[in-house]
Amino acid sequence: IQQALAAGPLEGKRIVVTSGPTHEPIDPVRYIANRSSGAQGTAIAEALRDLGAEVVFVTGPATAPRPQGVQVIEVESARDMRAAVMGALPAAAAVFAAAVADWRVTSESGSKIKKQDGRLPVLEFAENPDILREVAHLQDGRPGLVVGFAAETDDVEANAVAKRARKGCDWIVANDVSPETGIMGGTENAVLLVTGDGVEPWPRAGKDVVARRLAERMADALSKG
Ligand code: CTP
Ligand code: CA
Repeated sequence: IQQALAAGPLEGKRIVVTSGPTHEPIDPVRYIANRSSGAQGTAIAEALRDLGAEVVFVTGPATAPRPQGVQVIEVESARDMRAAVMGALPAAAAVFAAAVADWRVTSESGSKIKKQDGRLPVLEFAENPDILREVAHLQDGRPGLVVGFAAETDDVEANAVAKRARKGCDWIVANDVSPETGIMGGTENAVLLVTGDGVEPWPRAGKDVVARRLAERMADALSKG
């Protein structure tokens, strides 16, 4: 019993966490990306690790420090991130904190696009794979708990509830990233946890506090099988 307590409630459980932005190349020196420091993802990986989980942290080029004591896989694009996530399964749970670029540039140029007397380049786009949606819909080897994030503006709750249904995930952690909240790029977060049982607003707190609370809730859910 002593050892079980010391080991933590997530001991022996593999959990995949995605984090950071993805970069979608335009040419060798340019890319498109979402805003994401990766701070919330790193905090979640550390909180899950502290509860004993075997974390696989799949991160795009984020500025936040990488979590210590976990397996870190560095990727660039959404397609790279998808491949890394699929390669990391099976897992007991998966948390998708990454801000994945929705589109990639299909007209990617192998050489640097030069300015041409005011003639503007035209970019063509294709939709990226939706990693959360794909994992949540796996017939074989779906993680027991699939947690998505939703960075929203306007009606955060309605958007998050709709997103949970559309993605097929178990939970959505939603936050309001309207500029006036100051959350984007900051050290605090104020989230709504959307589950099958309803919507819980969590108080605004440090990203580490939010991460610990989420990790504890996950441990609780996984222990109930
Ligand atoms: N996500 C993902 N792969 C994508 C896009 C999103 O895994 N290609 C995940 C994100 O990591 C997040 C969740 O899906 O956990 C929601 O991302 P979001 O961008 O809010 O959802 P979208 O379906 O892309 O909707 P929107 O049009 O609002 O951007
Ligand atoms: Ca998106």
